[in-house]
Amino acid sequence: MSEQANDAALRHLITLDGLSGAQISEFLDIAESLRATAERPVNKLPILRGRTVVNLFFEPSTRTRTSFELAATRLSADVVNFDVAASSTKKGETLLDTLRTLEAMRCDLFVVRHQENGTPEYLARHAAPGVVIVNGGDGNHAHPTQGLLDAFTIRRHKPDLHNLTVTIVGDIQHSRVARSDIHALQALGIGQLRLAGPAALLPEQLQSSRCQLFHDMDAAVRDADVVIMLRLQKERMAKALVESDRDYARDWGLNADRLALARPDALVMHPGPMNRGVEITDDVADGPQSVIFQQVSNGVAVRMAVMAKLLGAFQ
Ligand code: NCD
Repeated sequence: MSEQANDAALRHLITLDGLSGAQISEFLDIAESLRATAERPVNKLPILRGRTVVNLFFEPSTRTRTSFELAATRLSADVVNFDVAASSTKKGETLLDTLRTLEAMRCDLFVVRHQENGTPEYLARHAAPGVVIVNGGDGNHAHPTQGLLDAFTIRRHKPDLHNLTVTIVGDIQHSRVARSDIHALQALGIGQLRLAGPAALLPEQLQSSRCQLFHDMDAAVRDADVVIMLRLQKERMAKALVESDRDYARDWGLNADRLALARPDALVMHPGPMNRGVEITDDVADGPQSVIFQQVSNGVAVRMAVMAKLLGAFQ
């Protein structure tokens, strides 16, 4: 069952599960219109002037936190980066008290990243009227803005999504990115979605009529239009689930020989941070088919779109 009714106006962004293709396309269309702003010499729009965005990150992050901060700044919002390490949460303040405290200071939108599945959803249930929660990644549950930016990046290069084969490779088990990519791409009617990885990292329940599971990387990559590589998330593994990095690179790493099995114009993607030499070789990560740093740029536009839409700047 989907987690979000798709007829209700979207107030928070917790997951892409349950959103319609039209709702997802709307975010991507707004992102497209905002993308040019980032390229201008004066790269600010007054859309969120007077609004305050709080980055509430309980897990480390480089790209996502910076990306939300830049996105908010480019829409002229004020941004507070809540420093969890130096905060009262270390003194035992509950999450809800932290939220209430920041709400009392008239903050409008909270980007929440947390190691536990469900934390952004919990805060959304308790948020004051008008306050918006955006999930910046929770556990292995969802990373909706990454799902949107990946779909956006694919759509910009290959708009005919219905005829595309997209392969996601690696640590699917621990990947909130994979889950959100699956939801975004399926809602947009992607032709074929393949998931590949070692058995211990590939949950069987993801098998469906529109998701094919592969236990062999060459077969998964053959004739693909897009190959999305994932990081091996050892910090989420209670015990080692793969042999060595070397064995992993041999069986599941994307190198030039494997990439040659995909379509000649196939895109190579990775949400970052990359473990170079493990899931991807340098020549592929930095090669002509890689759009990895375009994903990063697109992430800013997509997050601008999400914040502007949820704060009511686009009706
Ligand atoms: C990912 C995350 O944190 O889920 N990174 C990101 O947000 N771009 C993926 C990862 O950590 O491997």
